[in-house]
Amino acid sequence: MSNSGEAELLHTFKGIPFTSRSSPELLKSLDTFDAREDDVLLVSYPKSGTHWLAGVITKLYNTQVTITSPIEFGDISQLEKLNKLSSKRIIPTHLDYNMLPPNFKSKECKMIYISRNPKDTAVSMFHYYRDNPHLPTVDTWPAFFDLFLKGNVVCGSWFDHFLSWEEHEDEKNILFLFYEDMKKDLPKVVKEISLFLNLNVSDTDIQDICEKSSFSEMKNDTEKENSDPNHTVCALTSNRKLIFRKGAVGDWKNYFTPKQNIRFQEIFNEKMKLSKM
Ligand code: A3P
Repeated sequence: MSNSGEAELLHTFKGIPFTSRSSPELLKSLDTFDAREDDVLLVSYPKSGTHWLAGVITKLYNTQVTITSPIEFGDISQLEKLNKLSSKRIIPTHLDYNMLPPNFKSKECKMIYISRNPKDTAVSMFHYYRDNPHLPTVDTWPAFFDLFLKGNVVCGSWFDHFLSWEEHEDEKNILFLFYEDMKKDLPKVVKEISLFLNLNVSDTDIQDICEKSSFSEMKNDTEKENSDPNHTVCALTSNRKLIFRKGAVGDWKNYFTPKQNIRFQEIFNEKMKLSKM
């Protein structure tokens, strides 16, 4: 990080770095948050396709639902606002499983976890760090690569986040999705989501949703609209224009040196040895 003053952009709670957009008071209060049985959580490590998934889900529901701001976003008054919402709540979050308000677990709320190849996630996050004023500055890709592998980035270690959720993958209220599967066959994944959410959606509607959720459509929509700074599905920024960068699988190959790839693979193999991935 180039500037020591920027360290203030992040603070650590329970060992995990958060931006100053998540207040410590709010994070401390999460344990007592009151979930509702019909809440749906959209869970991700940053840069895994959160906005894409949120876009698909908004289009899938044709009744009145609210995609709220992330549960870990803002100051303590945000939780009160969430409590007051009368409509069904779709709640995004980057929290790892252990930090999730226990009420969501005991009430068996539906949760959708989206994951992505961590190498592409790292590259996407590198650009996000460079463009997002809420995140510390990183000067070079090698510097960011080291931070990512050590888990010294916002939301902590990708490995710990993924593993904390993967442990619960088989629970019936949790749906595990992969960015790469959405790229490969979006209609299939959208169908899977609609079945999981008990939504009756025709094949024609699914086709339509997929067309409107393509990278180019979503990027264009964002460029046209004047995004509301109070509306965010990612606790790291409200600026949607920073989100739609490349939308590709395998961009890591343009950044990782052969040596970095070997180092990443060694750490991946070690950390993920008990994972089914
Ligand atoms: P890149 O930086 O690799 O382009 P998140 O929403 O979790 O912050 O994830 C952002 C990543 O998802 C970005 O990756 C972004 O381009 C990609 N993305 C967003 N919408 C997408 C879409 N409709 N199709 C494919 N990728 C998309």
